[in-house]
Amino acid sequence: MIKTTLLVLCLSFGLSATAAENNKKNGLVLKQIMLKLSKDMSAIANAIVLEDWERVQQHADSIANHEQAPLIEKRKILQYLGDDMAQFKSFDQIVHDKSVELSEQAKKGNSDAVIKVYSEVMQGCLDCHSRFKPRIQSRFYSFKKE
Ligand code: HEC
Repeated sequence: MIKTTLLVLCLSFGLSATAAENNKKNGLVLKQIMLKLSKDMSAIANAIVLEDWERVQQHADSIANHEQAPLIEKRKILQYLGDDMAQFKSFDQIVHDKSVELSEQAKKGNSDAVIKVYSEVMQGCLDCHSRFKPRIQSRFYSFKKE
């Protein structure tokens, strides 16, 4: 019953049932989004090796248009970050802008630029992680014993 209510609630926030279930088991929806970003980054690395620019482009687009965490979760995180919210958002923006650029370079089949911009996207991922990941994980997971 409670489960059904939760599901309906989540659905009304535009969240899929699968994401809701994952959230219950594995913590933040943000994590599911991250795992998808990671898959896209690996797929791009493989596609670069194969010089498959179309696939690079597809996965770069997928990063640029990544899913958003549900509003409730977003608000919780941003509230917690307080004054650092702007910096958190700017890392997200860097990854977005660089992945758009990556997609454009892949479209041109410009391999040198693709490799350079790919590393800049990766830098954006790691910059945000080193600044925010431990903090967010310790806030949202440490007390979460099920
Ligand atoms: C705006 C900040 C930010 C950006 C940009 C960002 N991440 Fe994350 N990432 C996080 C946070 C915060 C977590 C912890 C989430 C959690 O555990 O629920 C995380 C977790 C992860 C994880 C899970 C690892 C773990 O320790 O549990 C992976 C994989 C990941 N990110 C990949 C990526 C990739 C790939 C990119 C770039 C394409 C990226 N992230 C960009 C903030 C960011």
